[in-house]
Amino acid sequence: MNIRKVGVLGCGLMGSGIAQVSATAGFDVTVLEVEQKFLDKGFAGIEKSLAKLTEKGSLKETPQAVRARLKGSTRREDLADCDLVIEAVIENAEEKRKIYSALDGIVKKDAIFASNTSSISITELMTATKRPERFVGLHFFNPVPLMKLVEVVRTIATSEDVYETAYDFGKRVGKVPVRTSDKSGFIVNRLLVPYLLDAVRAYEEGVGSIEDIDQAMKLGCGYPMGPFTLLDFVGLDTTYYITHVMFEEFKERRFASPPLLKRMVLAGWYGRKSGKGFYDYKDPQKPVAQDSALRGFAAEEAAAKIA
Ligand code: CAA
Repeated sequence: MNIRKVGVLGCGLMGSGIAQVSATAGFDVTVLEVEQKFLDKGFAGIEKSLAKLTEKGSLKETPQAVRARLKGSTRREDLADCDLVIEAVIENAEEKRKIYSALDGIVKKDAIFASNTSSISITELMTATKRPERFVGLHFFNPVPLMKLVEVVRTIATSEDVYETAYDFGKRVGKVPVRTSDKSGFIVNRLLVPYLLDAVRAYEEGVGSIEDIDQAMKLGCGYPMGPFTLLDFVGLDTTYYITHVMFEEFKERRFASPPLLKRMVLAGWYGRKSGKGFYDYKDPQKPVAQDSALRGFAAEEAAAKIA
């Protein structure tokens, strides 16, 4: 099957990144959002990223040429002739199922549906449509324009032809695809999530400060970011949601959210996106570790929300 036109659902961090790499690879892309303001925000991010990549000489064309293949829309009908639709909306199974169900009757019958979910069962999402054999997972990593991996997820119902088309699409957008099956968290989050949660537990137990734990894993293991910098980068709310889905699937303690993570999410400390997480990002160039607020553990805002 030949993919020419790609639809992307959601123009947030992941959706805009997926749209950008698809347009860069030469596909015509339409991004669907519920309101124009979300498209404007996402497209501003894409322009910034394309400018950076141009500065580094890693873009083969001008940003304008890439941008010309990218359209934004708030009308579902504009996705009707897409060959591949990749969903990257909020990490919530009900929301995702609603949009798939609505699009199933609009997008042409032989189009492939894909989800960028990091933990929700692809099979569960697939059942919201009448095209189970044409449904896969395409899980990209943040920041999408820089991270080389895409996990290509098959369900027991995915047809061989569809799976190989999705795998090939991963290569065509400049990523290294890996094959995996529909088990919550796939490969990366199966290993990454327990590690991040263990870092929070280690902190709760007083093993080290936020900065020392981050430095230890950066310098001791050669990781590009320490676990708390990475948690703030991915989003504590997103991680918290993932832990729920994975705990529900496996019922193992290693996937359960530590109390501190829950309280930070209740308090709205989501990380970079909300301006505060394990670090405060008032000055994004100089994040300040929040040890003093978190050591007491029940930060005032959190306590108020829990009560
Ligand atoms: N587009 C283009 N350029 C970008 C960019 C983007 N979206 N984001 C950053 N850059 C640029 C920066 O501006 C910077 O440019 P200069 O060299 O000109 O300064 C360059 O890339 C390198 O960035 P930084 O200097 O800020 O930092 P870095 O060298 O550490 O690289 C990084 C950044 C690639 C993000 C690196 O820190 C890294 O690999 N971090 C780990 C990220 C990771 O683990 N992601 C996966 C998260 S898990 C996930 O996504 C899945 C899930 O399901 C939760």
